[in-house]
Amino acid sequence: MSEFVQVRRDGAVLVVTLARPEKKNALTGAMYEALIAAFAQASEDDRVGALLIEGSEGVFSAGNDIGDFLAYALAPGAAMSESPTVRFIYALARFAKPLVAAVEGAAVGVGATLCFHCDLVYASPSARFHMPFVDLGLVPEAGSSLLAPQRFGRARASEYLLLGEPFDAEAARAGGLVNAVVDAASLHAHALAKAKALAAKPRQALLATRRLIRGDQSALIARMDEEVELFSAGLKSPEARAAFMAFMGRAKG
Ligand code: COA
Repeated sequence: MSEFVQVRRDGAVLVVTLARPEKKNALTGAMYEALIAAFAQASEDDRVGALLIEGSEGVFSAGNDIGDFLAYALAPGAAMSESPTVRFIYALARFAKPLVAAVEGAAVGVGATLCFHCDLVYASPSARFHMPFVDLGLVPEAGSSLLAPQRFGRARASEYLLLGEPFDAEAARAGGLVNAVVDAASLHAHALAKAKALAAKPRQALLATRRLIRGDQSALIARMDEEVELFSAGLKSPEARAAFMAFMGRAKG
């Protein structure tokens, strides 16, 4: 598994902490595997009524670890649909228990799009969401091409997904992605208290109500399938190669 994903049970809440702050919690294949395992654990353990996902040291996640992701994508015979990244986003979309996120600092790529799958999202004033897929020669993932316009309306979603403009905690709250902006010092406790409140509810009623709120998921899954195909094709584009190489070159200093 990965030392960069810490999983612990606090009462009826499974708390999942991304713990690679020196790399802005960029997610490697091993970290995705650990997240998939944590979601499976939360699904199977009847003591767990909700899952809280959070970052560490003032950052949520910079999204895919670019080097690690490229190494996978460029390997001979690599099938994107079987990548840990893609298996994780499907596990996220299919997760049946309540999901709560506590977001501080950067939430880039899947760090931002995973929030659309959460039932409650709390953010500190430092939160900065960014979905720069088009600039990377790619398309949105995790169903965000469907979920962002549903949430924000098409005009705002176009700013975030086509122009790739970042947005802060307050904009995320105004747009309905974030429930409340909470001081960094109380963010963890606040989000955990909400997750515990959910987990303490009558379980069947809670899960059934969540299912009803989310509605039929077939359109979401179909959109995710389409995104994966376009994302995989985009990865082969010269624009994507150039954007990733530029980041890698910059990272090497
Ligand atoms: N993949 C791999 N490494 C990453 C990363 C990513 N997605 N995001 C950040 N890092 C690494 C940096 O290379 C750097 O490593 P180094 O210290 O060994 O050089 C370290 O994390 C700190 O990042 P840095 O860019 O210096 O921090 P910052 O505070 O100036 O900026 C971000 C933070 C998140 C805004 C910026 O790192 C960024 O834009 N990252 C890329 C995000 C991205 O495009 N994700 C989508 C991938 S599909």
